[in-house]
Amino acid sequence: MEQQWRRSEELETANKELAAFVYSVSHDLRAPLRTISGFIKILEEDYAGKLDDTGRDYLKRVYNGSEKMSSLIADLLYLSRISRLEINRMEFNISKKASSAVESLREASPGRSVEVVVQEGLIASADMGLTDVVLSNLLGNAWKFTSKTKNARIEFGAFDEDGRTVYFVMDNGAGFNPEFKDKLFWPFQRLHTDLEFEGSGIGLTNVERIIRRHGGKVWAEGEVGKGATFYFTLNEK
Ligand SMILES: Nc1ncnc2c1ncn2[C@@H]1O[C@H](COP(=O)(O)OP(=O)(O)OP(=O)(O)O)[C@@H](O)[C@H]1O
Ligand SMILES: [Mg+2]
Repeated sequence: MEQQWRRSEELETANKELAAFVYSVSHDLRAPLRTISGFIKILEEDYAGKLDDTGRDYLKRVYNGSEKMSSLIADLLYLSRISRLEINRMEFNISKKASSAVESLREASPGRSVEVVVQEGLIASADMGLTDVVLSNLLGNAWKFTSKTKNARIEFGAFDEDGRTVYFVMDNGAGFNPEFKDKLFWPFQRLHTDLEFEGSGIGLTNVERIIRRHGGKVWAEGEVGKGATFYFTLNEK
């Protein structure tokens, strides 16, 4: 017991050190990146006429690369912030939160018709803002990975298992190879290419970290072409 406790203390310290390291590296990378982006802008504005089409194409690629890097750094900074944030638990209606996340998704892509079923009246005890991040990532993924599916359907709900509440987000979209179901939660790991579905691969890492900060667990089930289900708990057990 004593040994187990010490091990979890050590892990906690290692995690904190890693988060601090990630924070300072990402923070320091921003300054040189700003220099790169700044000079690309000047090149585009003042020297575009002196370049031929190939030169302008190369410049555009350098610019896209710097934009991508800037968004990856922002992702990393956010990730390290989650590790340091206080968890403010309170009771709230998580069904309403799920519905409003779905509302935002509908507003962002009005052309899509997706059947969404949200189990009403579920009350959670968790950090409300961070639960929003969890829901918008999981529902956002469900939304994205059903974008090529006919009769897309997404469901949010909960069930009791061994005295704990398990929440789930289920979709009938692209699914994934279950062999790699743990890899999904690693930073920048993706099971689909940018060409199939866009993304940087950080969303589920944020989700995992938020759930872990709550003492809960998150896991996934899926099959290629048959959709995916993400489960999570918000309490220790
Ligand atoms: N609902 C889902 N159905 C199928 N695959 C999924 C689903 N959710 C996540 N995945 C797989 O897990 C990978 C990691 O998900 P994650 O949310 O971290 O990244 P992303 O959505 O690709 O990018 P980001 O969230 O950073 O914009 C995805 O690229 C995809 O391969
Ligand atoms: Mg995502």
